[in-house]
Amino acid sequence: MRFAQKVVVITGAGNGIGKNHAVNFAKEGARVVVCDIKEDDCRLVVAAIKEQGGEAIAIKADVTNEDSVKVMMEKIIETYGRIDILVNNAGLTRDTKVSEMTELDWDVVLDVCLKGSFFCTKYTAPYMIAQKYGRIINTSSRAYLGNPGQANYSAAKAGILGFTRALSKELGKYNITVNAVAPGLIDTEMLRKLPTFDMIAERQIKETPIKRIGTVDDVTKAVMFFASDDAEYISGDVLHISGGRKG
Ligand SMILES: NC(=O)c1ccc[n+]([C@@H]2O[C@H](COP(=O)([O-])OP(=O)(O)OC[C@H]3O[C@@H](n4cnc5c(N)ncnc54)[C@H](O)[C@@H]3O)[C@@H](O)[C@H]2O)c1
Repeated sequence: MRFAQKVVVITGAGNGIGKNHAVNFAKEGARVVVCDIKEDDCRLVVAAIKEQGGEAIAIKADVTNEDSVKVMMEKIIETYGRIDILVNNAGLTRDTKVSEMTELDWDVVLDVCLKGSFFCTKYTAPYMIAQKYGRIINTSSRAYLGNPGQANYSAAKAGILGFTRALSKELGKYNITVNAVAPGLIDTEMLRKLPTFDMIAERQIKETPIKRIGTVDDVTKAVMFFASDDAEYISGDVLHISGGRKG
């Protein structure tokens, strides 16, 4: 049990990669806070964790709303008294050519991916500093290296890396590590629902040295590594979970 009694907050944990993080942290003994803007999805994840004998609570929060994040963190402290691990996972895409990209397309992606990570970190860091222990894992994407049609998303995910490095320098003296994961294309329920799934996966596999797309477990294993004692002297780093594809 690598995370026995640790309190782990995972944003965007109602679906996809975040949901897989939540279920697996719980399996390894953590007390998991399942945060998502979609309350019903949070509750389903918590129910699944409890069914397997784990400990979790659901909190509806919008990571782009500073008050919502502040209230969430206060609620967690009221419930568990500490926050050990923060996984900034919530994110979304609004893909389109730059000439057709609206201000809203830009703002929504930057707000959820980048500003959301800032707010969640801002309201978690004081507790981690006080307890002189913390692990923050941010979610970038291989797209930080640039994808056509993703100027907003690529910018946000590149921003996550600067954010990660700055925080690693600011928070290291309090025994807080800050790292990032940069997944390539990951097989999620959402992705499977796209009518173009087969075409997208085939194109991706062609460009990937390891000839498959990624799984949610691939990402969760990397996040758990950064959260574990095995990574206690690693900070400000990024792990690419992209089957060797970095360009
Ligand atoms: N799936 C991929 O191929 C892939 C690749 C690289 C990086 N990523 C990143 O991994 C993370 C998870 O992606 P996913 O594929 O699991 O996505 P997903 O859409 O399946 O899940 C994202 C979750 O975030 C939640 N969310 C959205 N806006 C929110 C907000 N304002 N506040 C709180 N929660 C909010 C959604 O409700 C959803 O449950 C994202 O940061 C994404 O950019 C995904």
